[in-house]
Amino acid sequence: MEVILNNLGKKYEGRDNFTIRNIDLKIDDKDFCVILGSSGCGKSTLLRMIAGLNSITEGELIFGNKVVNKLPSKDRDIAMVFQSYALYPHMTVYDNMAFSLAMRKIDKKIIHERVMEAAKVLKIEDYLYSKPSDISGGQRQRVALGRAIVRKPKIFLMDEPLSNLDAKLREHMRVELVRIHQSLETTTIYVTHDQTEAMTMATKIVLLDKGKIQQVGKPEEFYNRPANIFVAKFIGSPTMNLIEGAVVDGLFVSNSKEVEIEVPEYIYRNYEGKKITVGIRSERFKSSKEEKNSFEARVDVVEMLGKEKALYVVLKDNTQMIITVPGHYDYKVGEYHDFTFDLEALHYFDEEGNRIKDIVK
Ligand SMILES: Nc1ncnc2c1ncn2[C@@H]1O[C@H](COP(=O)(O)OP(=O)(O)OP(=O)(O)O)[C@@H](O)[C@H]1O
Ligand SMILES: [Mg+2]
Repeated sequence: MEVILNNLGKKYEGRDNFTIRNIDLKIDDKDFCVILGSSGCGKSTLLRMIAGLNSITEGELIFGNKVVNKLPSKDRDIAMVFQSYALYPHMTVYDNMAFSLAMRKIDKKIIHERVMEAAKVLKIEDYLYSKPSDISGGQRQRVALGRAIVRKPKIFLMDEPLSNLDAKLREHMRVELVRIHQSLETTTIYVTHDQTEAMTMATKIVLLDKGKIQQVGKPEEFYNRPANIFVAKFIGSPTMNLIEGAVVDGLFVSNSKEVEIEVPEYIYRNYEGKKITVGIRSERFKSSKEEKNSFEARVDVVEMLGKEKALYVVLKDNTQMIITVPGHYDYKVGEYHDFTFDLEALHYFDEEGNRIKDIVK
């Protein structure tokens, strides 16, 4: 089901300011929409408004073509999965999943069909008659998902459902969730602070900062075309290198004058004499010396990440950059090397920190 947020805002009672405000968003039917942001930015507040657990202070919430601002949570045809999934310890996995349907007095035969169907999707058929205490954390999390799936809701709402799991299990469950979403095609709104979860699962990412939307788009758009410096820093690991400077005689010159880069026409035509910031991801350097767009740097720290090495390098003026190279390359601490910027891969941001668009109107 399509979900539309029109200028949505929330001001908690007793608070001076709005926690989130001016949220305009269209979540398409079948989307896996990830609401991403650091702790306290208002993710859960927004999700709880969609769920009907928080009242809406201003704006409109629309499911399909119906305004649901005042519709009670139980009538919204949604199912929620939280970080703490609190299964009933005295009930079997089967009964945990069947419980909410039994409460609604749904026919036993239909309940059985739904539980078995969900168990199959989640691959938990083998321990349907175990108690939660006898299964692993990942299995318990799947049962929690099962409880939501049997309801056959129009929308799944999930608030950091994987954050209690260890790293390996989280990785596994990410793939499982994508697979489940592909098979059920239920519109899903998923809250997390973890950029990896957003990048790997989302069809649409919404990045929030201090209750405001910073960017909405596909994962590739976030990586390749961050809307501003905040987004550029938030997405990607290692963090994007950012160099402050200005456009001088058609060149980007860093504040310390140590870095000079040829900039494309749309930059020097419109930003001559102005301050800008150049961004480049760690993997977009060439290890070579060229007449232009090159710099020499000393390797300060080498971090072995497996398939790649992250080099923390320092330029003459003490500018630091992170450069990743293939893991089998031999770089040693203290060595000096030349690197060249891949001009195609540069991001340009204006003085306010907003991305400079390629086509300036
Ligand atoms: N019931 C409430 N009453 C007053 N303020 C609240 C209430 N719930 C949340 N807040 C405040 O709203 C802000 C956003 O909280 P929210 O829980 O939405 O953040 P979040 O992005 O989900 O963070 P986290 O990643 O830590 O879960 C916080 O400053 C929080 O203190
Ligand atoms: Mg939260």
